[in-house]
Amino acid sequence: MNGSYHLCTDTRPTGRQAVDLFLSVGWGTPGQYDPARWDAALATNAQVVSVYDGEDLIGMTRVLSDGLNDTCITDVIVRPGYQGRGIGGAMLETVTRTFAHTAIYVSCLTGSEGFFLKCGLKQQSRLMALAVRAAA
Ligand SMILES: CC(C)(COP(=O)(O)OP(=O)(O)OC[C@H]1O[C@@H](n2cnc3c(N)ncnc32)[C@H](O)[C@@H]1OP(=O)(O)O)[C@@H](O)C(=O)NCCC(=O)NCCS
Repeated sequence: MNGSYHLCTDTRPTGRQAVDLFLSVGWGTPGQYDPARWDAALATNAQVVSVYDGEDLIGMTRVLSDGLNDTCITDVIVRPGYQGRGIGGAMLETVTRTFAHTAIYVSCLTGSEGFFLKCGLKQQSRLMALAVRAAA
């Protein structure tokens, strides 16, 4: 990770910080997010890796895991302007190191798969993503 950024796993961003990050990459509109509910949602994640430039949240990845068998990376986001500096890769490396004893899955947006492949995840010939309602 280039630059003097702070990667953090022991505290979680607030819902408001997370929503601001979602909006920065064009995911959704302000009216569809309730920051208080995101405070609660973030508290349920098995791990949240966040990266700060000073006080500003510039990257976040969230993880669901049973801690034993299965881990799912729900999103990896780096604020535009900070992309291409190794921040996404550093966050993903933290997750894959922490949950190396489990299978780790990601269902990613088309266009971002190259990032995950670069970070060492492999397309599995016997797996595909199916959804009832895909996250935005
Ligand atoms: C995808 C994303 C998380 C990558 O974060 P980043 O900090 O820019 O990535 P890094 O700088 O750590 O890149 C790591 C490697 O992946 C490559 N890479 C990054 N984005 C890529 C993409 N979309 N396609 C192919 N390769 C990509 C980089 O070139 C780099 O390769 P290198 O090590 O050979 O130089 C970031 O672009 C982002 O937040 N995008 C918007 C949200 C999103 O789509 N998230 C993914 C779906 S959940």
